[in-house]
Amino acid sequence: MTETALLVGGGGREHAIARALAAGSDCELYACASNRNPGIAELAAGFEQLSETAAADIVAYAEEVGADVAVVGPESALQAGVADALDDAGVYTFGPQAEEAKIETDKAFQRRFMEEKEIPGCPDFAVFEDIDAACDYIDDYDGDLAVKPAGLTGGKGVKVTGDQVTKAEAKEYLRDSEYEEVVLEERLVGEEFTVQAFVANGEVHPTPAVQDHKRAYEGDEGPNTGGMGSYTDAAPELPFMTGDDYAAAVEVLEATIDALPDYKGVLYGQFMLTAEGVKVIEFNARFGDPEAMNTLPVLETSFLDVVTAARDGDSIPQLEFAGKATVCKYAVPDGYPTDPDSGAKVTVDEENVGDALLFYASVDAREDGIYTTTSRSFAVVGVADTIDAAEKQAESGLAAAGEGVRIRHDIGKPELVQKRIDHVAELRGE
Ligand code: AMP
Ligand code: GLY
Repeated sequence: MTETALLVGGGGREHAIARALAAGSDCELYACASNRNPGIAELAAGFEQLSETAAADIVAYAEEVGADVAVVGPESALQAGVADALDDAGVYTFGPQAEEAKIETDKAFQRRFMEEKEIPGCPDFAVFEDIDAACDYIDDYDGDLAVKPAGLTGGKGVKVTGDQVTKAEAKEYLRDSEYEEVVLEERLVGEEFTVQAFVANGEVHPTPAVQDHKRAYEGDEGPNTGGMGSYTDAAPELPFMTGDDYAAAVEVLEATIDALPDYKGVLYGQFMLTAEGVKVIEFNARFGDPEAMNTLPVLETSFLDVVTAARDGDSIPQLEFAGKATVCKYAVPDGYPTDPDSGAKVTVDEENVGDALLFYASVDAREDGIYTTTSRSFAVVGVADTIDAAEKQAESGLAAAGEGVRIRHDIGKPELVQKRIDHVAELRGE
């Protein structure tokens, strides 16, 4: 039976979701987003330019195209209640309702929830509405802290003392920013990794671990971004992890869903592998971007089958993966993230990516070409037996990139992967 699916969102993550949904012959895909992503538009039977947070307009479009199911990409849409509105209109949505999405959209809720439900891996934390009290806490705290606005900031609002800022700069940041609520928490030291799981009806089906690269410049320098690129190994764990580390992360996701039984969609755990084991940096209520571009190309189970099983209350099919490594590298506008050159023409020679996969992201396709927005432009993903081979494939694919974009070429290279392995060995005193 053909299913009509509506995809909400127009980034690289959503291009990867569109590709996964459209892979079977049994999906008629429609999409809506604020930017016209040419990769998604090409795969979809229809594409409507709509704000990702305009719940009523999205429901109207879903009804117009006769959508049977929907998949929501961005957290802004979840926060705005797009999943609630679609569910209410009878369009089953793979994505949590706003209440469950608070696990991402409200970091104060997230930490209190972890404490109350005794979810493993929660760092020491305190929540403040009063900025003076927060500044006193920073002064009195013995050690470094992560300073986090409670609301959504696109991954760019967190400041870590002893890393990007001094304690004095962290206080100045709080005083200048006028956040209504902030979370201050113990600085975790270690290697970060992500595990995403498909969740519905209390079931949790994990996918391979991914490592994103948040810093803008090579060598992990510069400001935080939404993510400059990411890699996975052929195994579920990454080269710096053990199978037990991966299992500990999966246990956190399972404990979270035990405490959130109505959750559906993707639960994304961001973890820090520390000397004391696996700790939780945050949860996201959706696929990661770029991480979806690593995960979905190696998923051999039909993603549409996962979504329809979730809708029908059936068991989610056992997930099969290709057992390949992946390396994803983003091309971003010059000046990203602090002063992105938006409205510049992007050129990608689609014929020249070789065996690599090309995913368009926050670009806008107009009649005379493709233009940058203020966010990431496109990504190239290599898929091969080893990280090294996948990295080389991604690099040859990047030959397709024209002028005016910036890329972190170091992602997935053996030197950087080895640095991660050495870092964890050092933390573990090996
Ligand atoms: P978040 O928006 O919570 O993912 O935070 C963005 C980035 O800030 C993370 O990817 C980490 O690099 C860093 N970060 C967040 N919380 C902590 C923490 N408790 N300790 C160290 N770094 C952190
Ligand atoms: N790459 C991090 C995120 O999607 O939040």
